[in-house]
Amino acid sequence: MTRASIGLDDALQDYIVSHTKALDAVQTALVARTTELGPPAGMQIGAEEAQLLTLLVRLTNARHAVEVGTFTGFSAIAIARGLAPGGKLLCCDVSEEWTSIGRAAWREAGVADRIELRLAPAAETLAALPDEEYIDFAFIDADKPSYWTYYSELVPRVRTGGVIAVDNVLWGGRVTDAEPEDDTTRLMQEFNDKVARDERVDVVMLPVGDGVSLIYKR
Ligand SMILES: C[S@@+](CC[C@H](N)C(=O)[O-])C[C@H]1O[C@@H](n2cnc3c(N)ncnc32)[C@H](O)[C@@H]1O
Repeated sequence: MTRASIGLDDALQDYIVSHTKALDAVQTALVARTTELGPPAGMQIGAEEAQLLTLLVRLTNARHAVEVGTFTGFSAIAIARGLAPGGKLLCCDVSEEWTSIGRAAWREAGVADRIELRLAPAAETLAALPDEEYIDFAFIDADKPSYWTYYSELVPRVRTGGVIAVDNVLWGGRVTDAEPEDDTTRLMQEFNDKVARDERVDVVMLPVGDGVSLIYKR
């Protein structure tokens, strides 16, 4: 199912997915429902990345999580499932149409009471969050040109030992272009360069999906 990790052939991708914890019925149905949307379905993370998110949320013992870019709610289920008892996930998106699919799936998955959705530009939502180091886990997967803005709002609010996961950091492999033809590639290159130089964090870039950076707050 779903999107292959960058650089992997289909056989290896299938092997990875078949040796990673399987999606449950609600997640599988949500992937199928999202596929009905056509090309926008390509924005959904893959099964192994979803399981990675659940694992990371568990490993950070997260009670306060934030997602930037929710779409039809698939990654949000993965994050919500990993939360410690009493934990909450704040989801940021601008699309009522896409997130309404997510809301229905969250009810079916039994995680609706753990998720708050704010429909507004994420930069505004993040800027209005408390100026405290309280976030345990964050996932950035919205409009790529705003990644640095989202990161800049989140880093000061993430606690020491907390993690920010960032999707699409390899941008289809175009990040290695010496002379990128599009602005998004150039902005993603700049984002990755700035994170790598940021002394507030340690970053590990993984070739999962379209590339995921795991950013640990020192
Ligand atoms: C790549 S999709 C998210 C996919 C989702 N994480 C998943 O795996 O199912 C990007 C989402 O970002 C949202 N988005 C775009 N611009 C935004 C903005 N300025 N503020 C908040 N969300 C935005 C879009 O509506 C879209 O749902």
